[in-house]
Amino acid sequence: MKKALYSGSFDPMTNGHLDIITRASKMFDKLIVGVIHNPNKVPLFTPEERVEMIKKLINDLPNVQVDCFTGLLADYVNAKKFNAVVRGLRATTDFEYEIQMAQMNAKLFNPGIESVFLMTSPEYSFISSSVIKEVVALNGKVDGLVPPVVLKEIKKKFSK
Ligand code: COA
Repeated sequence: MKKALYSGSFDPMTNGHLDIITRASKMFDKLIVGVIHNPNKVPLFTPEERVEMIKKLINDLPNVQVDCFTGLLADYVNAKKFNAVVRGLRATTDFEYEIQMAQMNAKLFNPGIESVFLMTSPEYSFISSSVIKEVVALNGKVDGLVPPVVLKEIKKKFSK
């Protein structure tokens, strides 16, 4: 059984992430969405809130589950015996960062574990969680870029 990890902050999850999840779920027997705290970012949602939102979004994908972890990604990947780590590439600017991470991870992964890259669908290539939060905070429209359940939760946060 081939098992992959798709990891990120997902603060919050966008349709760009969901697009990668849907496509990756067809490539592996099991896909785990791994929510992680990135210490370089100040999050809007707690990891628990993000996990709860993601659960609702992956409901119709039977081979996809969500988990939460801390620490080094490679430690989690080795311990849980994943076969691959999936990453999405939005633009050439992502490449520099991704190649560094993939090559560092390659040193840390147990033998045989691969980083697998999927090109983000063009309609989502310009979005990030931060830009979505910024636009919503300023009452801009993000229709089609985030799932309705996520939009509702972002608006709830900003109304407080
Ligand atoms: N569609 C839409 N947005 C996307 C996207 C896609 N397909 N792919 C990425 N993004 C967005 C993310 O939402 C994120 O937006 P933000 O910066 O506004 O939050 C941004 O692009 C960057 O995404 P990503 O590179 O996945 O960053 P991340 O913080 O979500 O995740 C980790 C990075 C957590 C995977 C990485 O830091 C990590 O592995 N950390 C663990 C510690 C570790 O092992 N470090 C050593 C690594 S060698």
